[in-house]
Order: sequence, then structure tokens, then C-alpha cells
Amino acid sequence: MPVLDGPFFPGAGTSPWRLEGREEEIRLWERVMADFAMFGRTQARHLVIQGVRGVGKTSLLKEFAETALREGCLAIRVRCQSSGRESLMDRIRASLDQALEQEQPTRRSAVTGVEVRTPLGGFGLERQVSEADPTLLDSAFMGSVLAATAQVVHRGGIGLAILVDETQYADRRSLVNLSELVSVIGEQDADRPPFHLAFAGLPKDTAAKVTRSSSHAERVYRRIDLGHLDPDSARDALQLPVQAAGGRWTEPALDLAVEASGCYPAFIQEYGAAIWELRHTDEQGIAVLDERVAARGIELAGPQIESYFDAAWEAAPPLGRQCLVALAEAGGQLRMGELASAVGKSSSSEISWVVDDLTRRGTCLKPARGVVVFGRAGMQDWVLERAADEGIA
Ligand SMILES: Nc1ncnc2c1ncn2[C@@H]1O[C@H](COP(=O)(O)OP(=O)(O)O)[C@@H](O)[C@H]1O
Ligand SMILES: [Mg+2]
Repeated sequence: MPVLDGPFFPGAGTSPWRLEGREEEIRLWERVMADFAMFGRTQARHLVIQGVRGVGKTSLLKEFAETALREGCLAIRVRCQSSGRESLMDRIRASLDQALEQEQPTRRSAVTGVEVRTPLGGFGLERQVSEADPTLLDSAFMGSVLAATAQVVHRGGIGLAILVDETQYADRRSLVNLSELVSVIGEQDADRPPFHLAFAGLPKDTAAKVTRSSSHAERVYRRIDLGHLDPDSARDALQLPVQAAGGRWTEPALDLAVEASGCYPAFIQEYGAAIWELRHTDEQGIAVLDERVAARGIELAGPQIESYFDAAWEAAPPLGRQCLVALAEAGGQLRMGELASAVGKSSSSEISWVVDDLTRRGTCLKPARGVVVFGRAGMQDWVLERAADEGIA
């Protein structure tokens, strides 16, 4: 058995022991891979995955990449950066060059030829892309992605997948070119190349950016909103890795941990790791996580958890903080109209921009139309304390 520090993996982009509760998303991706393997192409729409920080977007893209590589599909993951000195296209080009140089092993890796014969394979790129702003188009880039796809297939692979993370920072020109490329591909019939795209990023900005980059986004892309786990999956995410590591939870301890996490993936890992640290060993040598251990672990994880609240608080504008305080004082749930009057505004439209901002950052959630709650478990009490400290309660 591999030596692990423990069965939990807190942090950004650190994959969990196993992804729980993402079966639907994984199945969608597996279908694309199966299409590539069987038919050499797919009808499936390209993916736009949105979710707040800590919900598991990067982990999901990593899972996609692993699945793809296992099936013989070359997958490259590219992360956009806020500084944005290099365009997304530059990064894709560099990753593709590097990946193809390394002779990625494919399922049928006996074929190792490197010749590129049909870069554009009869695609009428120039004619078909004319709907977009021509000054943005870079047919050499599109051609190079198609050439890379052809090369992967030529070497015995089943296709190429490009997985773009932090899409909210992507430059418009790169998105326009990727969208045009997948539109052109979508118009092909039999000779459609096996190429698939998945974008991941923060809510709103990601879908908005990707949608604006395409003249028929609704036909090309499928949007997936990644949220908190359902309670059963959250339970599994805490229980199964512990079991696999040779430990066990007592039932009340597990309940405590599920509740503390609020089914938020990042908190599941944070609390899980802190609780695991405190495990004790029973007579049979089994690591036990009981109620006392869980309660103490939850307490010890406090500073780590609070750093999420701190970041959310710091990022909120003054009106946002007022809203958070009002929400906390009201017990953690308010209707928009009630929240507006609680912060001295006459209508909910006056706070909608700030609630949008809080929602985008995951600080708040709107579980139903017009209803606002905290987005991360435990923030309510923290806000009350913070407000008292700052004298704004
Ligand atoms: N489906 C899941 N089940 C359990 N833990 C998860 C799941 N998805 C992500 N995590 C954990 O949550 C944390 C945040 O994941 P990450 O992929 O970095 O999120 P994001 O990219 O959305 O910010 C990591 O510690 C990761 O291990
Ligand atoms: Mg991420």
C-alpha cells in the first residue's frame, strides 16, 4: 500500500482520494471517450463547468484528464492566469508541442510515427469562420489544434481533449478561436475530428465569457453548474477514504463532520484531515474517529476554515459586509427584500449587484429564487464575531 499522510487532501487543486457525487459529470465525459474510441468522433456538446472556489472544478478536470489518457485520448490541462501575459492560445500551443514531443503513451501506443500529414484535412476554415470578427481569428492556431488531433490519431490515439481551468481569466481572442474551431468541427459530418473541449471556472464570468465568444453557444456548449455535494456523497467522501486507510468513524462522529462541512468539498477535506490527525487506535489496531475526536478536530481546523471566511470578508465591498452582518443577525437566511430593508435600502434591486458578487465568490448562495443564505457552513457565527470586533453589529 502506498504511504499516505492520510486519506484527506485539503488544498487547491489537490484531488481527493476519490471524487464523490460527480457521477453524472464523469459519465458525460466517459461517453465522449467511448464515442471517440468507437466512432472516431462525438456529437456531444463541449463542456462549460462553473462553480465557486473549493467546489472541485480542478479535481474534476484532473479526473477527466486521467480518464482520457487511460482511454488513449491525449488530454492537456491549461490554466488561465489573472496576470494574463500569455494568451490561452499560446499556452495551449506550448502544452501541445510539449505533449506531442513526449510521445504520449496511448492505448495503442505501438504506433509511434510522428509524421503530420493532414493539418487541415479538407476543412474550409476560412469560409466557415466568417461569422466571427475576422480580426480576432487565427486560423493558424485552429489549424495547429486540428493538426495535433490528427497527429494523435495517426499515432494510434483516439483523440485530443483540451481542458481549460480558471476560464474566467481567459483572453477573449483565444476563446473566440476555440469557439470557432468547435463550431467548424460541429458542422462536419463523417470526418469530424475527435476533439473535445472542457472549460472550468467561476460562476457567471465563465459562462458569460464563453457564450460571448460564440455566435451559437447554445448549440456548441453544455453548461454544468457544480455545487456542493448531496449529503450522501458528502458522507461517502468522509467515510470511504477512512475505511480504505484502515480506520472507522463512529456514527455520531461522522454526523458531526458531515454537518460541520456543510457538504462543501473543500471543508470536507479540511475537517477530514484535522480529525484524522487525532485518531486513536483501538485494541484491534484500527484507527477510530469517535465523537470526541471529531469535535476536537473540528475545533483545531478552525483557523484553516476561518481563512476562507477572512478571504470572503476582505473581498466583500462595504455594502456586501453589511449584507453579511444582516444575514447573520437574521439567523442565516433572508429573502432579498428583507435583506434590502435590513441594510436600509428600499428595494432588492439596490442590493442585487452586491448579492451577485457575494454569490459569485461562494460567500452566499441562493438556494431558491429570491432567498439568500451563507455559502459556507459556519460563516454565520464568524460574521457575528467579526462584526462585534469591528463595531459594526
Ligand atoms: N467530489 C469531491 N469529493 C470530495 N472532495 C472533493 C471533491 N471535489 C473536490 N474535492 C476536494 O475539495 C478541495 C477543492 O477542490 P478543487 O478541485 O481545488 O476545487 P476548485 O478548483 O473548484 O476550487 C480539494 O481539497 C479537493 O480534494
Ligand atoms: Mg481550481
